[in-house]
Amino acid sequence: MSKLIIRGKRRLSGETEVQGAKNSVLPLLAASILAKGESVFLGCPHLSDVEASIKILRYLGCKVSHKDGTICVKADGISRYDIPTELMREMRSSIVFLGAVISRGGKARLSFPGGCELGPRPIDLHLKALRQMGVSIEERYGVLECSCEKGIKGARIALSFPSVGATENAMIAAVLAKGTTTITNAAREPEICDLAEYLNRCGAKIYGAGEGTIVIDGVESLTGCCHTVIPDRIVATTLMSAAAVTSGDIVLHGVVQSHLGAVTPVFEEAGCKVVFSRGNMRITAPEKLNSVKHIRTMPYPGFPTDCQAPVMAMTAVAQGTSVIVENIFENRFRHVGELVRMGANIKVEGKVAVVEGVPKLFGTSVVAPDLRGAAALVAAGLCARGKTEISGINFLERGYESFETVLSGLGADIKKI
Ligand code: UD1
Repeated sequence: MSKLIIRGKRRLSGETEVQGAKNSVLPLLAASILAKGESVFLGCPHLSDVEASIKILRYLGCKVSHKDGTICVKADGISRYDIPTELMREMRSSIVFLGAVISRGGKARLSFPGGCELGPRPIDLHLKALRQMGVSIEERYGVLECSCEKGIKGARIALSFPSVGATENAMIAAVLAKGTTTITNAAREPEICDLAEYLNRCGAKIYGAGEGTIVIDGVESLTGCCHTVIPDRIVATTLMSAAAVTSGDIVLHGVVQSHLGAVTPVFEEAGCKVVFSRGNMRITAPEKLNSVKHIRTMPYPGFPTDCQAPVMAMTAVAQGTSVIVENIFENRFRHVGELVRMGANIKVEGKVAVVEGVPKLFGTSVVAPDLRGAAALVAAGLCARGKTEISGINFLERGYESFETVLSGLGADIKKI
């Protein structure tokens, strides 16, 4: 089992490129099975979740190569329409393959993804949307048996919550459907726009991605294309937190300012100076951070739930009280106990965390509870006095490519053992 060893109190400075967005790559790879010929994705990070998606594609019969951040998928030889339990369990978001597999083969057999570190991960909205599109779905002993002999048909889908995964699944299923699909209360995350951009370049007709209503006119076929993945706004935010807690001054290359619209004011409230210019961002942190009065996680364009943990690490060492409300997932404060072990003063009551900033954190042994919780512990370790030892870093590797190398390049004393 690998661990990260961090010796804190090193001020971060310098420049780094932000990796491509994991949450874009996964649905893009799933959607690629609908295209004839080859799809080429540039800027793909090397992550265990990306590897898990590639395993699924290969199991289905696709030819896939992954080298130097470029993934090429040829899906012409697909021969299977099932995904075995072990592959589904490797990555909870593998449910995003459901719409693509059914659309491609008229049938699908997938095991139920089950719960995850963030609490129960229901898929009722995904299933309801697909049923409205004419897919028959039976849930038996943890397996979803899906068929759609007459083909998928366009439908009016009103999501009761703007679920990212359900919006992606419905969009992917709709592109080759008969007729028009309308998704209302759709998720508006940048990853939805990235997926629509790829599919439209392949020949799909998707209108309104990034808005609350998405309209998709079904087309006969799609042809693979070359697509560059958007930068990872969550990784960018984590690096901003790392700079903030170390009174750092760093430049991030390849960021999209609008994608960080909800997080930038939080760093500014904490006293950081954030300047964007032509795809770059410079963040300069003060000697002492201010607390952030109120952070509420919300669907995009609100404050992202994925940024809650790394930003909490920043508030843990700010002067004053910060209040953080987690509205998206019910079990997303699991990093709190580990931050408290490092000397943080945080109380959780239901979905509210009250963070009383402390002057310093202290290095100790901690265990990463989940992907973004791991990122919070890294940020905390960077500013803690002494040595922090983080185990469970397999979680971190699901979403952060060579994070220790990126941080060392910025001056951190961090190594993987
Ligand atoms: C995606 C992201 C994840 C991020 C989340 C919210 C990927 C691979 N993952 O996850 O990093 O934290 O968006 O921004 O892109 N829900 C239901 N029924 C459903 C589906 C969802 O009740 O059928 C609920 C969930 O329990 C959760 C909320 O809706 O409380 C948001 O989930 P959703 O937007 O679907 O998240 P994911 O797509 O799973």
